[in-house]
Amino acid sequence: MRDFEFENSTKVIFGRGCVRKHLPEFLSHYGKRVLLSYGGGSIKKNGIYDEVTEILTSSGKEITEFSGIMPNPTYAKVMEGAELAHNNNIDLILAVGGGSVMDCSKAVSLAARYNGDAWNDFWRHQGTVDFTPIPVCIVVTASGTGSEVNGEGVITNEETKEKLGRDYHACNAKLSLMDPVYTFSLPKRQMISGGFDSLSHMMEIYFGAPDEPNVSDDLNEALMRGVIRDLRASIKDPEDYTARSNLMWESTMAENRIIKMGKSTDFECHMMEHQLGAYTNCNHGEGLSVLHPVYYRHIYKDGLNKFCQFAEHVWEISPDGKTKEQLALSGIDALADFIREIGMPTTLHEIGIDESCDLKKIADSCEINRGGYRELTHAEILDIFRECL
Ligand code: NZQ
Ligand code: ZN
Repeated sequence: MRDFEFENSTKVIFGRGCVRKHLPEFLSHYGKRVLLSYGGGSIKKNGIYDEVTEILTSSGKEITEFSGIMPNPTYAKVMEGAELAHNNNIDLILAVGGGSVMDCSKAVSLAARYNGDAWNDFWRHQGTVDFTPIPVCIVVTASGTGSEVNGEGVITNEETKEKLGRDYHACNAKLSLMDPVYTFSLPKRQMISGGFDSLSHMMEIYFGAPDEPNVSDDLNEALMRGVIRDLRASIKDPEDYTARSNLMWESTMAENRIIKMGKSTDFECHMMEHQLGAYTNCNHGEGLSVLHPVYYRHIYKDGLNKFCQFAEHVWEISPDGKTKEQLALSGIDALADFIREIGMPTTLHEIGIDESCDLKKIADSCEINRGGYRELTHAEILDIFRECL
């Protein structure tokens, strides 16, 4: 293992009925003024809005609503929320939603208490948070991103066409409430997209040094096998509580920093997907499902041993009679087969991106990840995009 420091200050309460059981006690420790942030209205259809507002009202809170947070939240939306929070002297942000609502709310908590250019100082560059952001509590309604247990807010700046996320420990939520039943109303397509996003996080953490045995990769392999099993079961029966609760916790385990310890990581696929998203607003998990197999076929020779391990330990492929290259490629083929099996897109066309997009411009805008087995060039990113068409 490489040297590391581990810290995660978010308290998690997980399980059926946890919001009603635990939110009132948590609220009693904070002031009266609550910013209730949520998305496009799914929580009004599935009853979560009524439940949460009833708890807030009976706890004596004054609610300021911040609604309409869109998938792939924009910096303009963050600034709208920051102004609302600042003008109403908000004591606590209660974020009720999926990754987009969680990310936007954490970004608001930071921007509301900062007078400078927040985009430049905290997103474009890694900044230092030497002040206290507004405390955030999260009620998770869609799992996949792991945003409930990290300090990251992935935000799209529509003016500059950048989609960037940085992880600030000061932005970790104080409490995340995770009731798997709250995710049952997710459309199937979004449930699958979230599950694949988790698998993607696991793979991107896995495909990096060290190659010798280490706790992070051991845990990661178990999580990857788990998310594959639980996605299959959740597709068969979306209300399978065991599968959905596993899926929810697997997504958290991928991004609560534990399996990153002692590791170098390769988030190049995320960098590429984020820029595709910045230009086209594509769905995050679906962008990843298109890119992953093609990206891995580009780089596997540089991390041959780990790709062989992936084939054997995650997809349970026998090495018998195969060269190392054949074994590594059979693991990538198994990933591609799985993507097709769960009905995710495999081409950019399927997610609305075609030759009319300026793929070169998008490729040139991608950050180059330095933690993987090989650094890509912008020309190779363009090749990957073209192969994905
Ligand atoms: O907006 P509403 O009406 O609530 O509908 C949402 C949205 O349309 C809907 N939804 C959420 N919970 C639901 C529900 N519909 C019915 N029932 C429920 N219980 O689902 C749709 C998608 O929601 P969104 O929050 O956008 O999805 P997801 O959780 O996949 O989040 C994606 C965002 O997170 C970022 C992505 O880039 C993207 O912007 N990420 C954040 C990360 C982090 N903070 O660590 C890491 C990730 O890699 C990722 O980049
Ligand atoms: Zn992701």
